[in-house]
Amino acid sequence: MSLVGLFKGKGPSGFGYTSTAEEVAAGVDLKGRTILVTGVASGLGLETLRVLAGRGATVVGLARTEEKVQAAAKEVGVEAVAVACDLSEPASVRAAVATTRDRVGELYGIITNAGIMALPKREVKHGVELQMLTNHVGHFILVTGLLDRLASDGRVTVLSSAAHTGAPSFGVDLDDPTMERGYTAWGAYGSSKLANLLFARELARRLPAGQVTNALHPGVIHTNLGRHMGGVMSAMLGIAGPLFLKTIPQGAATQCWAAVNAATATMTGEYLADCNVAASNALGRDAALATRVWEQTERLVAKL
Ligand SMILES: NC(=O)c1ccc[n+]([C@@H]2O[C@H](COP(=O)([O-])OP(=O)(O)OC[C@H]3O[C@@H](n4cnc5c(N)ncnc54)[C@H](OP(=O)(O)O)[C@@H]3O)[C@@H](O)[C@H]2O)c1
Repeated sequence: MSLVGLFKGKGPSGFGYTSTAEEVAAGVDLKGRTILVTGVASGLGLETLRVLAGRGATVVGLARTEEKVQAAAKEVGVEAVAVACDLSEPASVRAAVATTRDRVGELYGIITNAGIMALPKREVKHGVELQMLTNHVGHFILVTGLLDRLASDGRVTVLSSAAHTGAPSFGVDLDDPTMERGYTAWGAYGSSKLANLLFARELARRLPAGQVTNALHPGVIHTNLGRHMGGVMSAMLGIAGPLFLKTIPQGAATQCWAAVNAATATMTGEYLADCNVAASNALGRDAALATRVWEQTERLVAKL
């Protein structure tokens, strides 16, 4: 356990900072349930694949190639339905929607876990800043393309981040999708993670009763996500990680709690952290902004 973990207690849910994905999913029978997870090739997605498949779920694993999914499943000793999906290529996401629809029936869960962080230089693809395109727009196409397959008690679990607080003061503005206005690595990442959070807030309003969606901060975990932060920072995280950061099993706990634990079956529109309800910043609770970002994304996606 990290030093930080030693001082963290459990929250009202009975789980907390040090809880693991395995612990929050213990005893849950997922046989006959199908759950789609993006970004299963590494980090939190790989652990989520391992734990949910271990509870009997059919996991539809998405990664850039089917081979990556197969290698990931083999690495953790489980089976997965492998679907290729590059979230930064709208055509690839639409193909993944079609393949998923062909290969599986009803979805009990969708976990939008894949992501990229803090690209030092602004990169634009299809006219959209790459972090916003990958983290938010790609997942928007994926989830909205599969919503009619979501079970009547289905759950959509959205990886956001405490870094949503680093978004610029306007939050998210997809009428300026290239983010020419004062790009910073963390500002753009924050904006994309705020978009993830607002997506879940707005989706919660739109889903029929019975279906739920929540966004979450998984904690701070040393994974491949830091690959763009530079060698020194990454090396420091590698050294300090065991002392100050969550482990990967702890990092995957909140998304597994939201996706399968009985306590969250009727919880919706919340922002979660450490396997409990948490508070986002004011922009993250702005219902009008959530609706505007949804509508902006729809208009943008129609052109992609
Ligand atoms: N780790 C943390 O401290 C932390 C903190 C807050 C939030 N989060 C969130 O947690 C989620 C999981 O991150 P992680 O820490 O597990 O990082 P990770 O190990 O880097 O996993 C992210 C996954 O996303 C995939 N991905 C990236 N771009 C993609 C694309 N264009 N198409 C398809 N897949 C793509 C990556 O695949 P490739 O390797 O093929 O690129 C990778 O498997 C992210 O949404 C992140 O924002 C993490």
